[in-house]
Formats: sequence, C-alpha cells, structure tokens
Amino acid sequence: MTPVTTVTPGTPTDSASPAAVRLDGISKSYGDYYAVHDIDLDIAPGEFFSLLGPSGCGKTTSLRMIGGFTDPTDGSVLLGGEDVTGLPPDKRNVNTVFQSYALFDHLSVTDNVSFGLKRKGTPRAEIRERVGTMLERCQLDDLADRKPRTLSGGQRQRVALARALVNRPQVLLLDEPLAALDLKLRRRMQVELKQIQREVGITFVFVTHDQDEALTMSDRVAVMNEGRVEQCGTPEDVYEHPANRFVASFMGTSNLVPGTYRDGTVVIAEGPSLPVGTRPGITDGTRVSLSIRPEKIWLSDFEPGMALATGVLRETVYSGATTTYLIELAPGIILSVLEQNTARSRMEDRWSGGERVEFGWKPEHCLVLD
Ligand SMILES: Nc1ncnc2c1ncn2[C@@H]1O[C@H](COP(=O)(O)OP(=O)(O)OP(=O)(O)O)[C@@H](O)[C@H]1O
Ligand SMILES: [Mg+2]
Repeated sequence: MTPVTTVTPGTPTDSASPAAVRLDGISKSYGDYYAVHDIDLDIAPGEFFSLLGPSGCGKTTSLRMIGGFTDPTDGSVLLGGEDVTGLPPDKRNVNTVFQSYALFDHLSVTDNVSFGLKRKGTPRAEIRERVGTMLERCQLDDLADRKPRTLSGGQRQRVALARALVNRPQVLLLDEPLAALDLKLRRRMQVELKQIQREVGITFVFVTHDQDEALTMSDRVAVMNEGRVEQCGTPEDVYEHPANRFVASFMGTSNLVPGTYRDGTVVIAEGPSLPVGTRPGITDGTRVSLSIRPEKIWLSDFEPGMALATGVLRETVYSGATTTYLIELAPGIILSVLEQNTARSRMEDRWSGGERVEFGWKPEHCLVLD
C-alpha cells in the first residue's frame, strides 16, 4: 500500500473549520429508558474517533443517530457545521460499514465497490479510475473478479471498507467492523484500517467494545457507560488519567483498592497504609479507591522517592511475555502486578508463593478516586 497523502488530524480546538461531526445535547429514549443521554461531542475533520464502552451502553444508537438511521429524541446532529437532524441517511454525506458487511453476493468485488458510484450516475471513466485506486489501496486488486462468498473474513471486510470509502464520504461510520475476525487477522486489520484512514483523510467514527482496539487505533476515544460519555480524550489521557472508577476499571486492568484517605496515604482496613502523596481536594477520612495500573508497580530495583509496602504473594500467573503476580494486602484485597519477562527479571524462579514480598510505586502513578 503506498501512502498518497497523509492527513494529520486536527483537534476541535485548533481547527478553524467546523467539526466534522457535532453532537449537541443528543438523547434517545425508549419510553422511560435512555439508550443515549445528553451527549455533547465534537469530532474534528480527519480524526479517527472511537466510541468505546460495554455492551448496551449506547454506541450503536449514537452511530445510528449520526448516520440518520435513528432519530434523536432530543438534541441535534451537525455534519461539517450543517444541522442534519431529521435528514434521511441518503441526504447526509456519511457512509456506514456495518458489522455484517452486507455485501452483494451475486456481484464481483469490483461491482460491489462500483455500486454506489454507478447509482449516483458517475461517468464510467471516473468510476473505473476511482474503483481501481481504491481496490489497490485496500489490497483487493488481485481479487477484483471474485464473488464475496469466495473471500475470507478479512478480505470481505476490506471490500466493505472499499465500497464505503470510494464514495468519499465526509464521515465514515464503522460499527464493530472487526468483531467477526479472529485475533490475528483483527490485529492486522487494525493496522491496515488505520493506515487507510490516514491516507484518505476521512473522518472515522469507530464503534468498539475492545479497549485495546480503541487505544491502538484512535486519535481520541469517548468512553461510554449507560448512555453517557464518561470521559473523552486521547488514548493516553483515558488510560493514564481516567476520570473516574468506571473508566479506570474499563480501560484495561487497573487495581482499585478500597481504603480511607488520611494524610497522604490510603489506609487499608487490616492492611498497610499506602503512600499516595498529598491530594488537595480530598479531606482526611474520605472513603476512596486507589487506582494503580499493574505495570506501574515494581517488585525490585526500587528507586529513591518510591513508596514501598509489603503483602503476601498468593499467585504467579505466567503469560509468555509477561508474568502477573497477585499480592494480598488484606483479607480479600488483591493487588495485581505485571512484569515483563526479560532475560533479567524472572521472578518465578525466585518465588514460590506464600511469602511476604515488598513492592514499590511512584505516588504520581496512582490515582485517588472518590
Ligand atoms: N429499538 C429499541 N427499543 C428499545 N430499546 C432499544 C432499542 N434499540 C436499542 N435499545 C436499547 O438501548 C441500549 C443501547 O443499545 P445500543 O445498541 O446502542 O448498545 P451498544 O452500545 O451498541 O451495545 P453492543 O456493544 O451490545 O452492540 C440497549 O440497552 C438496547 O437494548
Ligand atoms: Mg452495538
């Protein structure tokens, strides 16, 4: 795949042009139940934006409202600054790739990809040119004459993508497009999809419930829960600085240790006091959760300034490149610690389990959540 142009996505604040997609106080209710509740979002032109959250949190409903397949109960949808609320899907400059791909089985790959342009009455020479370029970009040129049912899942996925991109929509909506693929193909398609998106410079709104996928692919992520956006930011923002308990636990594994904040420590009942640094804004005696990522905890080679504590090693879980250690701090309170298995660190050779071990962390790496 040869990159043609590379578009650096802007952010809503540094861009003079209107947001590619703006959701303005948008809600969708079914009776008393809110599938989507008062969401505000600005998605910049050229941005790879993901809606991430557990099943039923309102991702598809949000996407359908952007595409015009579902009418909001409240609020408005703007595309490129134009209010499109109430317009049908074919009057919006967006295309959607559904999870099922919905390819035409009796048509060849080329005819599938040409379909939209033919229907719009695009001149034949232009169709040939645009379809040819798109097949090449999606690595489908060798498969141009095949029928979809003779293709693999990943190939079909690329046909669906080419068919949508060839129309040059302002915005491409993708609803879990990789969900049906096996893990290896999925990882490869993540990289390819991101590469294609950069080349064509189209705004992608990508729905997934897979945290890794959202972190790997997106410029920004909106983490959703029960119809609301809990946090919106860069992958690093939401991973390193989760705004609340939900985001901390949903974005990969995080330790959430319950305790009481007192004087720069989190005191665990029947367990150690964990130094976290002074937290202005949290008063002594507040019940809190200490959130710290397993990979931010050290088991050896401590540095000056690190906080240290001990616990009992309960379990060692070897997973190839990494090993997870489960350390009990107090009855029922387990801290998980993740170490890379390098030639230098092979803890499982040293520990059998049941012994008291020391661990350390940098106070700036932990969050104290109310
Ligand atoms: N037509 C409908 N009538 C009633 N409830 C609906 C309707 N469509 C969706 N819902 C409900 O709205 C909520 C959000 O649905 P949505 O499909 O947006 O979830 P999702 O985040 O896409 O989930 P998943 O990851 O499982 O696809 C769900 O609880 C769903 O049952
Ligand atoms: Mg869905």
